[in-house]
Amino acid sequence: MSKLNTSSCVVGVQWGDEGKGKIVDILSQKADLVVRFQGGGNAGHTVVVDGEKHVLHLIPSGILHKSVCVIANGVVVDLIQLLDEMEEIRKRGIKLDGRIFLSDRAHVVMPYHKFLDKCSETTAGNGKIGTTQRGIGPCYADKAARKGLRVADLYNEEFFKERVFAFTAEKNKILQALYGAEPLDPQRIVDEYRGYAQKLQPFVTDAVELVNGAIDKGRRVLFEGAQGSLLDIDFGTYPFVTSSNSDACGISSGTGVPPKKIGKILGVAKAYCTRVGEGPFPTELTDDLGQKLREIGGEYGATTGRPRRCGWFDGVTSRHSVQINGIDEVAITKLDVLSGLDEIKFAVAYQHNGSKTERMPTDTKVLAQCRPVYKTFKGWKEDLSKVKKYEDLPKAAKIYLNFLERYLKVKVTMVSVGKDREKTIHRK
Ligand code: IMP
Repeated sequence: MSKLNTSSCVVGVQWGDEGKGKIVDILSQKADLVVRFQGGGNAGHTVVVDGEKHVLHLIPSGILHKSVCVIANGVVVDLIQLLDEMEEIRKRGIKLDGRIFLSDRAHVVMPYHKFLDKCSETTAGNGKIGTTQRGIGPCYADKAARKGLRVADLYNEEFFKERVFAFTAEKNKILQALYGAEPLDPQRIVDEYRGYAQKLQPFVTDAVELVNGAIDKGRRVLFEGAQGSLLDIDFGTYPFVTSSNSDACGISSGTGVPPKKIGKILGVAKAYCTRVGEGPFPTELTDDLGQKLREIGGEYGATTGRPRRCGWFDGVTSRHSVQINGIDEVAITKLDVLSGLDEIKFAVAYQHNGSKTERMPTDTKVLAQCRPVYKTFKGWKEDLSKVKKYEDLPKAAKIYLNFLERYLKVKVTMVSVGKDREKTIHRK
């Protein structure tokens, strides 16, 4: 198994859905703390334990082991969703006291954030981002505009009420003028949120002290990234991105742990590539092969159920991710899905306007016009689901992975060949 440093991090190399949930679940067997640092209920981490499927949106996958789970300040939290998820976990016999902590600095996703996200997406026409409609963008926008509400504010009743009334009045004007929507009732919001605040109070803490303190004491802390690096608000395929720093760059601002305390960075990438929502995807397969990958790989969103767009592994965008994250090691997931194909392609460069580039263009319109330059590999027919050792993988699969390592200049230390925890090859 990949060795954990005092502090390590798992991030997605592509556009999310790389299978980070499974990798975090495995690594959290050895982690004292697992910390979410960005995103919110837009994430959907699927973990299969003993054939039973668990889908987590806000709570780190470490909850299925013994780790203490922290939702840090960089996360935007839908309190209703968090309480529902906590209830689901309790029903599975897992006790939550002392196991889950919520940062008092985290921002709260309010009803008007979700409403605005839905209205804006459904009326945007061609300008649509294809969001999960969980209120993520509007909540981060309010945070930056200094019109957000933090978890700590829930416990200052007068202040909370005053802010909710002011913000709801403003949002109601927007909702009515732009979308002809019914206004929201601020008093109802205040009453409802008072109840949520009471239920969550035992879990609320100063997470800056909790996480830094754990690292200082030599405890093993694992930071769990949500979404993927290509959805990062600064370094992804803007504007078709999420609203947070969904790569390792987000850890410090999302937790209060300084950069010099962050140790190993493990990137997770699928053996091919997928994307949900709008935006450029140069290696997308819109033909029968794309459909075949979707079916074999079960490529449907864990949060929204939307079919994922599928395509070949894109070395160009992945190299960009390796660079911005400083990835030390890679875990390759879903290698088993490629079994049975005659040939497998890997994008080594792009062709645009007659010239060739190995850099991901910043201009999203240019990226959308790029044609991938592929290196083609021989496929393999063997079923990989029972392979336990890297050496036992089919020769063609090893050639493919060796090339990927050389291209990205990063070692592949884990290979996932099936949904279950056990179906993972740990490379020595
Ligand atoms: P938002 O994060 O809901 O605002 O959505 C912005 C973009 O990020 C859309 O293309 C979503 O499909 C995508 N996205 C958000 N969360 C995830 C995720 O967990 N996996 C994959 N894509 C995501």
